[in-house]
Amino acid sequence: MIRRIAVLTSGGDAPGMNAALRTCIRAGLYNGKEMYVIYDGYKGLVKGNIHQVNKDFTADIINRGGTIIRSARLPEFKEPEVVKQAVQRLQDYEIDALIGIGGDGTYRGLLDLAKAGFPVVGIPGTIDNDVASTDETIGFATALNTICECVDKIKDTSGSHQRCSIIEVMGRHCGDLAMYSGLAEGAEAVISSDHPLKEDSLFRKLRKMKAQNKSHAILIVSENLIDINELAKRIEAETGFDTRTEVLGRLQRGGTPVAHDRILASRMGTKAISLLLEGNHNQVVCLRNNEIIGVPIEEALSMKREPKENLIKMIDMLQ
Ligand code: F6P
Repeated sequence: MIRRIAVLTSGGDAPGMNAALRTCIRAGLYNGKEMYVIYDGYKGLVKGNIHQVNKDFTADIINRGGTIIRSARLPEFKEPEVVKQAVQRLQDYEIDALIGIGGDGTYRGLLDLAKAGFPVVGIPGTIDNDVASTDETIGFATALNTICECVDKIKDTSGSHQRCSIIEVMGRHCGDLAMYSGLAEGAEAVISSDHPLKEDSLFRKLRKMKAQNKSHAILIVSENLIDINELAKRIEAETGFDTRTEVLGRLQRGGTPVAHDRILASRMGTKAISLLLEGNHNQVVCLRNNEIIGVPIEEALSMKREPKENLIKMIDMLQ
């Protein structure tokens, strides 16, 4: 029987992590469980930075960005000795189950704990939307809105100077932030792993726009793909468009979560608790066709992200 449940956040922080944490704590307490938080992700777990919390701990956090229990990356967590220490810490506090909020890296840590015999559940929280097992991750919608707010502002100045602006967005190796923000902004081009750069057609298009005296051109590019400063030089040389680059960086991870992320976090957090209470351990929470379901962690981690063909077609049609 599960009596004590702990929650941690790990990997890059994402808006809505606090809303998910709040939900887990409140749903756990509602079901008569003792709730604990672990500060600083797996690093804090190994160190034993573990504290019991009550409902007051969750006051006024549903709308807060970041994660109040902080996050950390701990690559050594895969080492069996480190996993053993983590299990020992959890046992020291007589904790019966752990909920980890984060991306695939967090899930791999949970899987190691599960293999060591400790019950776990994962909740997807990352701005990257790169967790293959779920249609959406907590934080993606907010980051997308933040990108759109920034691009709207860049458009104003880009238009005033008749410039081409290349904007690099996050996503690690996943192009969703670039693709969806490109769609929402009506960008002239989107460059992502699923939608690679086609230089010739891009230059042709920009030359035509320049000839038509268009006010500006917006290109949205996923990080870790190309050197945007090199591309800017090539655009200037090939098309005559005065070109500037912007890297939006970590501001995409901050800010108040939008209502969509708060609701997704609430739905996923309650599911995490019910999975544990029903004895469905070692699963991750997923959104599939607007249903919240549990999927075994190992299965979730073996899934590969498929390119979103309909989205790619739509972008090609509209840009
Ligand atoms: O996973 C979230 C994310 O913001 C990625 O988009 C980005 O590549 C990475 O984290 C940056 O991590 P850090 O802030 O640790 O450099």
